[in-house]
Amino acid sequence: MTYRTHHCNALRADHIGQQSTLSGWVHSRRDHGGVIFIDLRDREGMTQIVFNPEKNPAIAEKAHGLRSEFVIKVTGTVTARLTGTENSNLATGAIELVVEGLEILNAAGVPPFPIHTRIENEDMRLSYRYLDLRRAQMQQNLRWRHKITKAVRDNLDSNGFIEVETPILSKSTPEGARDFLVPSRMAPGSFYALPQAPQQYKQLMMVAGLERYFQIARCFRDEDLRADRQPEFTQIDMEASFTTPVEIQTWVEGLLQDVFKVTRGIEIPKSFPRMTWQQAMDDYGSDKPDTRFDCKIIELSSVFATSGFKVFKGALESGGVVRGINAKGFASITTGQIEELTEMAKQYGAKGLAFIKVENGEWKSPIVKFFTAEEKAALTERLKIEEGDLILFGADKWSTVTEVLGRIRLRVAEICKWLEGNTALNFLWVVDFPLLDFSAEDQKWNAVHHPFTRPKAEDMVLFESGEYAKVRAEAYDVVLNGVEIGGGSIRIHEADLQAKMFKVLGVDETHQEEMFGHILKAFSFGAPPHGGLALGLDRLVMLVCGCDSIRDVIAFPKNNRGCDLMSQSPATVEMKQLRELGIQIKG
Ligand code: AMO
Ligand code: AMP
Repeated sequence: MTYRTHHCNALRADHIGQQSTLSGWVHSRRDHGGVIFIDLRDREGMTQIVFNPEKNPAIAEKAHGLRSEFVIKVTGTVTARLTGTENSNLATGAIELVVEGLEILNAAGVPPFPIHTRIENEDMRLSYRYLDLRRAQMQQNLRWRHKITKAVRDNLDSNGFIEVETPILSKSTPEGARDFLVPSRMAPGSFYALPQAPQQYKQLMMVAGLERYFQIARCFRDEDLRADRQPEFTQIDMEASFTTPVEIQTWVEGLLQDVFKVTRGIEIPKSFPRMTWQQAMDDYGSDKPDTRFDCKIIELSSVFATSGFKVFKGALESGGVVRGINAKGFASITTGQIEELTEMAKQYGAKGLAFIKVENGEWKSPIVKFFTAEEKAALTERLKIEEGDLILFGADKWSTVTEVLGRIRLRVAEICKWLEGNTALNFLWVVDFPLLDFSAEDQKWNAVHHPFTRPKAEDMVLFESGEYAKVRAEAYDVVLNGVEIGGGSIRIHEADLQAKMFKVLGVDETHQEEMFGHILKAFSFGAPPHGGLALGLDRLVMLVCGCDSIRDVIAFPKNNRGCDLMSQSPATVEMKQLRELGIQIKG
């Protein structure tokens, strides 16, 4: 027996008169005076099948029992649809299959939501993910994900990269996020850690002489979740020896060209613009600037050097800055919206959010009375102020002001729908990141990327002399439309420089030996100069598919509380399992 001679998107006018067998799901059904029309669905598409009681009463009777999502096999004759009943929205819309044989392969309960409509309740979708995945959009997302990983493998293979798997049960090291730990039964009290990234393994593969490695690698990070963050996610991870930042960036550009070609069928630029981290922060208040709209942050400190407004003067006197953005045409902002933006500014550390609305030729603002005519003229010139504009100010430390205005800029674009209908793909390399960042909370230096990133050769003197705040890293991120889709760097390959780096990060010699002894030792056996990058596969697929969340491109994601609603994990385990691991749960 055969289940099908064609799939549900195969039959066309050319097939009229032929016999065909189809198998699939009952998508929808309509009764027209005893004649039953069913849209039969499989992963390829839909075909209308018809049960006619006059021609075949026994089968039509059986068809009365069919409900949504029943799995059936039908055999019949491909027939032209009556003139006027063709469906031009359907590839098979010129024909229908007049059924002569029906087999019910499996019945289905009433689904918790219809498969053919979009539903917003994500908890419901995730609880019945296997039904959610039946929807055409989700099937498309999974297919594109497949096509993308295939294109990536083909592309990297053609450039001499070798795919190697690295351990999932690995060792906990302080790399940035919190680790997921796995208790060992054989060594009670000891733990494996799930890898946050295969960073150390890929570097060890360079020491091993592999020269070009890649992996579609699963990574695990126990961090707070957002639309573009999952506790387990996938990287396109790569590393090469005897290479340069530009060579790595060129490989990544070529790879992304292939990805967009095989999915969306479009040509993206051969090489992407580059922007330094400093410029990205100064102009956009973000290390992943969305350059699809302007609204840059403008430096205004010199305008207010002798300001009569104590907030601006105070900020400048304590070494801070005054900066602003011109939200073009948004003078219509409501009081509620001003309050929302001010709340947001405060959430990111600002003390307030001064503003000016330019309406009917007048500057409307509680603070404008403090401004002199010269200050107003300078503002007009620098911010290119026109009728209908809204000006927003930040006065504080540079880091607070840039972060706050960067976020406000994005929120304003959202409120004003500046990106609606915008189909641009703005790729960007952000380069020359700082190597280290001083954490006021922990009173110590942290690595901006990770501890294996190399200081820029020009800044090595600053690194040696302890001027850590000024040292730039040989690191680069690739950004698409304001989303960080990848990041990488040239690495430290010398044991002594790596040890010095650990020391700067506050890891003393005993801990270095304990946590990183293996990699320091490896570097003493002839480690080649090397570097690499990792792309976030989920984020890339999300942008290719035009989705808002990476959950829509992962077959079985966790919700934003880290739970798998379908299988109800995480879950408690048997006492016996805990005893075997020597673990006792407190409280
Ligand atoms: P990084 O930590 O920047 O670099 O990660 C690389 C890329 O992975 C994606 N990403 C995530 N995607 C979904 N959910 C998450 N929780 C998540 N975290 C990161 C981002 C990011 O750009 N080992 C280094 C790479 C290297 O230096 O070669 C690394 O992991 O798109
Ligand atoms: P105040 O004088 O504190 O009432 O503030 C007057 C205006 O300036 C209000 O709109 C505040 O939100 C705003 N403001 C206060 N502090 C700051 C700051 N540090 N940066 C920008 N705006 C501020």
